[in-house]
Amino acid sequence: MDSLTIRAARLDDLPRLTAIYNHYVVHSPATFDLEPKTLDQRYEWFTQFREAGRHRLLVADEDGAVLGYAGTMRWRPKPAYDTTVETTIYCAPESLGKGIGAKLYAALFDAIAYEDVHRIVAGYVPPNPASAALHERFGFRPVGTFSEVGFKFGTYWDVCWVERRI
Ligand SMILES: CC(C)(COP(=O)(O)OP(=O)(O)OC[C@H]1O[C@@H](n2cnc3c(N)ncnc32)[C@H](O)[C@@H]1OP(=O)(O)O)[C@@H](O)C(=O)NCCC(=O)NCCS
Repeated sequence: MDSLTIRAARLDDLPRLTAIYNHYVVHSPATFDLEPKTLDQRYEWFTQFREAGRHRLLVADEDGAVLGYAGTMRWRPKPAYDTTVETTIYCAPESLGKGIGAKLYAALFDAIAYEDVHRIVAGYVPPNPASAALHERFGFRPVGTFSEVGFKFGTYWDVCWVERRI
């Protein structure tokens, strides 16, 4: 883990980022996507991020292997929401619980520290103790739980929303 660096995502990371994400699409309720994304679809997603400004995408890179990513995205489309961002964070299934999520979030929040961001929000699907602990560690406070708003794997799932005040 000593050789782990957190850097801005590059377009040539996209196949690996898509593979990490699609693992959770297929195997986990953590995302409410139901079908794996194609590279073209993920390219559309990738284009929302910039190397400056509010909407960043960082990766955890260990000797050239991307082990996870985290980003800040527009939360809702209407312009009064401009200064609120929503996070996304996924670590590769073989790299969970090794501190990578915490390193990604630390670097991500450093990266946007001087941007015009007023609230950072995140939603996670319980039970997800790693996500709950990660958000608590970074100062997110519970806002509330939407009950049974997602249907995946033949059952309904809640979503817990948390916010970090800047
Ligand atoms: C959620 C996720 C990003 C966290 O990253 P991570 O690298 O696994 O977590 P870290 O090792 O940095 O640990 C962060 C905190 O979670 C805790 N944690 C990690 N794994 C845990 C587990 N399985 N059970 C309970 N707590 C756990 C750590 O102890 C740490 O808590 P602390 O700060 O109080 O010490 C990662 O587990 C992941 O990608 N999960 C699958 C996809 C997902 O759920 N994404 C988030 C959607 S909101």
